[in-house]
Amino acid sequence: MRILVVGGTGIIGKRVVTLLRKDHEVIAIGKNSGDYQLDIEDKTAIVKMFEDFKDVDGIISTTGMASLGALSQLTDADFELAVNNKLMGQVNLIREGLKHLNDNGFILLTTGAASHSPFPGSAAITLACAGLEGFVKAVEVEKDKNIRLNVVRPAMVTESMELFQLDVPFSVSATDTARVYKAIMELDESGKMYNVPECLEIINTK
Ligand SMILES: NC(=O)c1ccc[n+]([C@@H]2O[C@H](COP(=O)([O-])OP(=O)(O)OC[C@H]3O[C@@H](n4cnc5c(N)ncnc54)[C@H](OP(=O)(O)O)[C@@H]3O)[C@@H](O)[C@H]2O)c1
Repeated sequence: MRILVVGGTGIIGKRVVTLLRKDHEVIAIGKNSGDYQLDIEDKTAIVKMFEDFKDVDGIISTTGMASLGALSQLTDADFELAVNNKLMGQVNLIREGLKHLNDNGFILLTTGAASHSPFPGSAAITLACAGLEGFVKAVEVEKDKNIRLNVVRPAMVTESMELFQLDVPFSVSATDTARVYKAIMELDESGKMYNVPECLEIINTK
């Protein structure tokens, strides 16, 4: 398959790219790095990406920026970032992907636990993640092409926690997180949200 990984140069994305490259043609897309550059906040750039890459079978988004911060501290710019980047960036990948992907293709997006389990400081992130998951469910009931559309909710990633020197009780390595993206990509399901820890438990018992 020919697969575009948007965010394919990030902590999670680069492991997804490495894993999938064993069996597929994978294009790693970053904002400033990778095989191809794209700003998901720019809808025209997404349209151009599908002009530049034809015959695409799958899109994986391992990107989506939003700020963590107390509600009283979040600025208009923080909300704009969450909406324009994490939410509308991925919404527009879906909208354009549905027009251009090969039949039997797939789109796999990224949210996080904040979509359904908010915590203090998650207001902007929850807004974007819950909005995206709602959009996926709505698209699922009216899409007329055979394209699987699913969402991965990563747990805290060990390498990110180390990078930010955060001590969290539970984290999943980026490599194991990537294994979950691959497993979900191969499932014959659509319109679903997948929590990484639960998926990993199932994968590890197989
Ligand atoms: N890491 C975690 O612990 C964790 C936990 C839960 C959920 N998540 C979610 O998982 C996703 C990936 O996380 P990560 O830690 O792997 O991220 P990351 O290491 O910060 O990587 C971000 C990726 O997105 C690209 N990017 C940044 N801005 C972009 C833009 N405007 N348009 C297109 N691409 C852009 C970056 O490209 P460049 O390298 O070129 O800048 C990079 O490839 C995010 O949505 C994050 O919220 C992560």
